[in-house]
Amino acid sequence: MNVVFERLSEEHRFAVIDILNHYVSNTTAAYRAEKVGYGHFDDYLNDEGILLFYAIKADDEVVGFCSLEYFKNIGNFRKTGDVMYFIKPEFTGKGIGGKALARLEKDAIENGMDRIVVDIADDNAGSIRFHERHGFTEYGRLKKCWNKLGKGLGIVFMEKELGRDKE
Ligand SMILES: CC(C)(COP(=O)(O)OP(=O)(O)OC[C@H]1O[C@@H](n2cnc3c(N)ncnc32)[C@H](O)[C@@H]1OP(=O)(O)O)[C@@H](O)C(=O)NCCC(=O)NCCS
Repeated sequence: MNVVFERLSEEHRFAVIDILNHYVSNTTAAYRAEKVGYGHFDDYLNDEGILLFYAIKADDEVVGFCSLEYFKNIGNFRKTGDVMYFIKPEFTGKGIGGKALARLEKDAIENGMDRIVVDIADDNAGSIRFHERHGFTEYGRLKKCWNKLGKGLGIVFMEKELGRDKE
């Protein structure tokens, strides 16, 4: 499977929003309650806090998307990045998420960042395990702070210091 990362552009609009909406409707992986319209894609294109946003293609099909944004879009917070990825369900568990994370880590380092963070619904065991396997550690947890699909949920905050994989 040939996996490539394309900077987000108009051609990805429908595929990206459809993938997001799958996770909005069916899971706690996306926090929102309601599906978004295709116009939501413009927020991704125009948000100045987003440093890089990629559509992920496998064998020429959009199979996911990922982004690197500033932890806070304030000048003093340029060294910490916030990562996000959603892979189409039938393409999970095939190493694409690992490739996306590696790509975003490289981008973060090239942009002078020394740490990346991620926040995850506390019932998303697969994502928590994925991040642990890739060197993230938990730095905090907010219990029962939101609800979705009839469940009271929390958020797990994880961080990874960059450039330490080989130590
Ligand atoms: C989390 C996610 C980005 C990981 O990407 P991936 O391509 O599935 O992961 P990889 O194939 O590189 O690595 C596989 C590991 O990811 C974890 N994983 C997390 N969610 C998974 C899923 N839905 N299916 C399979 N593996 C998953 C497992 O730990 C797995 O390891 P294992 O096979 O030994 O159990 C991807 O599964 C995904 O988009 N999931 C749904 C949306 C989501 O949770 N996004 C993150 C929100 S914080």
